[in-house]
Amino acid sequence: ERTQVVIVGAGPAGMLLSHLLAADGVDSVVVETRSEEYVAARIRAGILEQSSVDLLTEVGLGDRLALEADRHRGIYLQWPEERHHLDFVDLVGRAVYVYGQTEVQKDLIEARRKAGQIVHYEISDTALHDIESDRPSVTFTDADGVAQRIRADVIVGCDGSFGPSRAAIPARESWDRTYPYSWFGILADVAPSTDELIYAWHPDGFALHSMRSESVSRFYLQVPNGTDPASWSDDQIWDALAARLGHGQNGWALNPGPITDRSVLPMRSHVSTPMRHGRLFLAGDAAHIVPPTGAKGLNLAVADVALLAPALTALLAGDSRLADDYSETALRRIWRCTHFSWWMTTMLHTAEDPFDSQLQLSQLRWVTSSEHAAAGLAENYAGLPIGF
Ligand code: DHB
Repeated sequence: ERTQVVIVGAGPAGMLLSHLLAADGVDSVVVETRSEEYVAARIRAGILEQSSVDLLTEVGLGDRLALEADRHRGIYLQWPEERHHLDFVDLVGRAVYVYGQTEVQKDLIEARRKAGQIVHYEISDTALHDIESDRPSVTFTDADGVAQRIRADVIVGCDGSFGPSRAAIPARESWDRTYPYSWFGILADVAPSTDELIYAWHPDGFALHSMRSESVSRFYLQVPNGTDPASWSDDQIWDALAARLGHGQNGWALNPGPITDRSVLPMRSHVSTPMRHGRLFLAGDAAHIVPPTGAKGLNLAVADVALLAPALTALLAGDSRLADDYSETALRRIWRCTHFSWWMTTMLHTAEDPFDSQLQLSQLRWVTSSEHAAAGLAENYAGLPIGF
């Protein structure tokens, strides 16, 4: 088998890249270790920046999004006894959209299916070869147990932080930060108790009230690393959310409902460079991980492939300039989002040291009372332009 671009990983980065390349007349084959059902159902991000929505819309992926996504003007930031709204539209002229990664993924799968895109799911033993030549290839065992080799001009690793692509880049430099807490994520069949997301600082730990639709709410609780999600009863979860989100304060009530999904996610920051070696390019989680606070992960993956698709199209037509600049250009935005995610995370999660708590409360008061500070948060949260 031969194609122009082999894309390792059929998550949002890989599938969107295949879509963007196809629009430029470039053929690709996507390979994925998981099943299509698993990739489409895994619960991940929920917030799209304006620039991500604009891009998806421009490339024909915005129909269901336009109908079903909920546009939010901003967020609430709160700490005990105080809740403040930041209006991003007033502050920086950009909004954010509630539209789950599950929905983005379904739209991508549907669009690529209609276009006849080849995606090999449930493969194993993925290996990358000859990335320093102009005839690289990917070998794997397909779902029927047959050994396969796909030859291409370019390989793109969209295979996340555990995939083989990142490790195929020699002489890497990487930067890491682990955080001393995790997020306990809960999905519940209940209408959201708020019109926009609530980020809550609380002495018991951070809590976030997010949502997926008019009838599905999403919550996160700061918990110690290593917490077993089965160790909390439903009542304990709702009690903790009620306490941290301020149930009963100023007439606000949290409505509980049936919990349909629960998981604990560790939090870390990671950046690996360069994002290109020879004919191998990395995009999305394969190159960088952000902690979830601020909802940058999916948006960064979209921004990477928005940059990469035209660079690869030009490279295949004999012009390597954009491809040569890809890593450096992408990393400017990646470091901005890495800083913003770290900043939101460290502002909101309860720290061991009471000195840190006072700094956090001071910072929260500042971003909710100074228009300049609020605009800085808004500019980063609502997303910088794709070309930043
Ligand atoms: C969600 C996740 C986030 O990290 C965030 O900052 C906002 C929302 C979510 O999954 O809904």
